[in-house]
Amino acid sequence: MRLITSATLLALATMAASAASAQDISAGERSWNKCRACHQIGEGAKNLVGPQLNGLFGRHTGAVEGYSYSSANKGANITWDEAVFAEYIKDPKAKIPGTKMVFAGIKNDKEIADLTAFLKQFDKDGKKL
Ligand code: HEC
Repeated sequence: MRLITSATLLALATMAASAASAQDISAGERSWNKCRACHQIGEGAKNLVGPQLNGLFGRHTGAVEGYSYSSANKGANITWDEAVFAEYIKDPKAKIPGTKMVFAGIKNDKEIADLTAFLKQFDKDGKKL
């Protein structure tokens, strides 16, 4: 009886988790609107004011070919992961002093998590994982 209960709870928890992540991605897509003036993502994404952001997580700072980074960004020597990205997007100029990304930042942790879930969908070729 006890076993059935925990199995049921686990199933419910898993369902809740996947429902939450689906929602996060669509909220993240709305948050992405703040980036679209300067960045593209997805298949065929091009560099605009800022570099394309395909496959961002695991990418090194300043790694997009053909994009002219500031020396601050290029020399930041950071590999983007969730923690670094969260810190950066709160206040880009604090994390990378001298960056030419003019963006006030997103302060809300939930919004950052949603945006991260949205960005993580795209592999380095812009295909959805
Ligand atoms: C006004 C234009 C602008 C907006 C808006 C903007 N960015 Fe940027 N972003 C840039 C520029 C320009 C750079 C290049 C910085 C440099 O070389 O110093 C950049 C760089 C970056 C980088 C580093 C990329 C790398 O390859 O090292 C990340 C990550 C990033 N932006 C994410 C975002 C996200 C996410 C948003 C939206 C929440 C956003 N940016 C909004 C202009 C912008």
